Amino acid sequence: MNTNLIEAAKNILELNWRDGFTIPTNKLYPFQWNWDSGFVSLGHSYFNLNKSIQELKSLFSGQWENGMVPHIIFHSEKEDTYFPNFDFWDSNVNKGAPQKPKTSGITQPAVHGFVLENLLNKHPDNKDLLAYAKDLFPKIVKYHQFLYTYRDPHREGLMAIFHPWESGRDNSPLWDESLNRITIDRDKLPAYTRRDTSIADASERPTSDQYDRYVYLLQLGKLNQYDGPAIVEESPFLIQDSMMNALLIKSNQSLINIADRFGFDSAQLKEWQQQSIRSFNDKLWNEDLKMYTCYDLRDEKQMAVKEIGGITPIFAGIPSVQQAQHLSDYLMDLHNRDYYLCPSFDVDSPLFDSKRYWRGPVWPQMNWLIYKGLMDYNFFETANIVKSDLIELVDKLGFYEYFESRKSVVKNASKGYGGELFSWTASSILDLIKSK
Ligand code: DGY
Repeated sequence: MNTNLIEAAKNILELNWRDGFTIPTNKLYPFQWNWDSGFVSLGHSYFNLNKSIQELKSLFSGQWENGMVPHIIFHSEKEDTYFPNFDFWDSNVNKGAPQKPKTSGITQPAVHGFVLENLLNKHPDNKDLLAYAKDLFPKIVKYHQFLYTYRDPHREGLMAIFHPWESGRDNSPLWDESLNRITIDRDKLPAYTRRDTSIADASERPTSDQYDRYVYLLQLGKLNQYDGPAIVEESPFLIQDSMMNALLIKSNQSLINIADRFGFDSAQLKEWQQQSIRSFNDKLWNEDLKMYTCYDLRDEKQMAVKEIGGITPIFAGIPSVQQAQHLSDYLMDLHNRDYYLCPSFDVDSPLFDSKRYWRGPVWPQMNWLIYKGLMDYNFFETANIVKSDLIELVDKLGFYEYFESRKSVVKNASKGYGGELFSWTASSILDLIKSK
C-alpha cells in the first residue's frame, strides 16, 4: 500500500510543478500559495532537493520590502480560474510590494523557519542547501520582524490577523461571531464573481455571506496599503490566532537552532521567543476547555471554542506535559467515538459540518503538524492514530484537499472533498510515511 501511495504522491508533486514552484491543485488554486509551498518543499526533498530550494526561492521572490511574505504569489497573470486574482488585490497600492511577481496583500502561517530546519536535518551536507540556507535565513527573520512590528499592537509577542484567509482556516465557525460583526452594504462592496464554486462542489466551500466578508476585509486592507496602522485600529476583525502564533513560535525556535549551527546572531529571535511563549500560555490557554484558544482583540476576550488550531501548540513545544496530555486525551476521545483524526472543528457543536471546508473535515497538513507534536511529547499511540487515519483516508478516497471526518460517512464515500490531486496531501503523506 505504502509503495503505491509514495509513487502516487511523487507523481502529483511532479504534475503540479510549474516553472519553479508548485500549484496546490489545477484550476481551483493555479498560483503559488504561501504555507502550501512550505509543506510542498518538504515533499520534493525526497526526490529532488533542488525543487525544494526553488520552491522557497519562488515564494520569497514575492516578499515585500516591509518583510511580509504574501499568501499568494501570482507568477502567471494569464490564469483566470481564481478569484480574487492579482488585479483585484492590486498589491502595488503598497510601494514596497514587488511589481513582478504580483502578490496578494495578506499573509499566511509562518512555516518557513521550521521547513528550512527540516530540510537541513534531512540533508545536512548538501552544499546548495547550505548556501541557500544562509541566503534565506535573514529573509525569514525579516518576515518575523514584520509580524512583530505590524501585527502586534500591544507589543506582547502575539501577532494578529485581520483576515480569516491569513489563518489558513478560512471559514472555521471559530470566526463566525467576529465576522458577523461586519454589516455588509452591498452597494459599497465591489462587484465580484467567485470562481471556486464552479470548480469545486459549493457545499464543500465557504458560503456567499462569508465571501462578502472576505471581500470587505480585503478592501479594508487595500485602502490602507495592506500595512497601514489604520488596519489594526479599524478592522472589525482582529484576532490573535492560536495556530499562527504557534507556528511562528515553532519557526522562531528553528531559526534559533539554525543560527546556532551557522554561528548567526540570534539575540533578537530569543527575545521574541521568550515573550511570545510566555504570552501564549498566559493569554490563550483555556482551563475549562483544556485547550488553547484564539483571542479577539476587538472584543478583548478569548474565543472559547474547541477547534484544531487549539491543538497545534503541541507542535511548537508550548504546552506543559500536563497540558499536552489534555490535548492528546481530547483526540483519543474523538477516536473512540468513531471520528477520523483530526476533525477541524468541535464535533459536538451545532456549527460542526463534516463536509464544509474548515467547519469539520480532516486536513492532511494538520495531521502532519499534530503527529509531529504528539511524537515530540511521546504520545506515540495518539500520534500513530493521527498518522494512520490520514493514510487510510488517502488510500481509500484519493489525494484530496480535505476529507470527511465521520467514519460512518466515509464507509460509503468514494472521494474526498475540495481540490483533487492536491500537493500538500501528497507531501504530508510522503513525509509521514518516509520520516521517522
Ligand atoms: C481560497 O481561495 O479558498 C483560499 O483559501 C484563500 O487563500
